Amino acid sequence: MTVSLKSFQDRVVLITGGSSGIGLALARNLAAQGAHLWLLARRKDTLNEAMEQLKVFPGGCQVISADVSDWTQVQKAVSRIEKEAGLPDLVINSAGVSHPGYVLYPPRRVFWESLGIPATAQPSMRCAVSPMRLGLK
Ligand SMILES: NC(=O)c1ccc[n+]([C@@H]2O[C@H](COP(=O)([O-])OP(=O)(O)OC[C@H]3O[C@@H](n4cnc5c(N)ncnc54)[C@H](OP(=O)(O)O)[C@@H]3O)[C@@H](O)[C@H]2O)c1
Repeated sequence: MTVSLKSFQDRVVLITGGSSGIGLALARNLAAQGAHLWLLARRKDTLNEAMEQLKVFPGGCQVISADVSDWTQVQKAVSRIEKEAGLPDLVINSAGVSHPGYVLYPPRRVFWESLGIPATAQPSMRCAVSPMRLGLK
């Protein structure tokens, strides 16, 4: 399969956890391809730093402070994006916390932040975006 480097031009892309780590690395890559990015994470200061870094790219970047484990905040965030930019063409779920180290029997908090949050965010984002995409909302 060939993926065109232009394939993300003007696409609306929502990246949860886009202010840091894997999410931010993907954001840089997609921004360089002309995607219009929405970065979602909890802390406003790191979101604003990420947005500042992505200013140099043409597609534009906006940020939303929200917690992916809070359904009301997820719905509110997706509604805002829909209103201001249209529904996302792509959602990347990268929110979660990286805890380096041995992972077989982690403390509950570590387990929740690194696996529970991503596992919750995926269906929440899907439930928030898909019905709108299908015209059911
Ligand atoms: N790095 C790796 O090698 C690796 C490998 C496999 C899997 N993973 C998993 O991939 C995920 C991301 O890893 P990373 O290295 O990119 O981590 P990271 O650098 O710590 O970035 C995590 C991002 O998620 C956001 N976030 C965390 N909890 C959130 C929540 N409840 N709601 C909204 N945003 C939230 C953080 O911002 P705020 O804190 O401001 O919300 C930040 O933007 C983690 O779940 C990690 O376990 C990482």
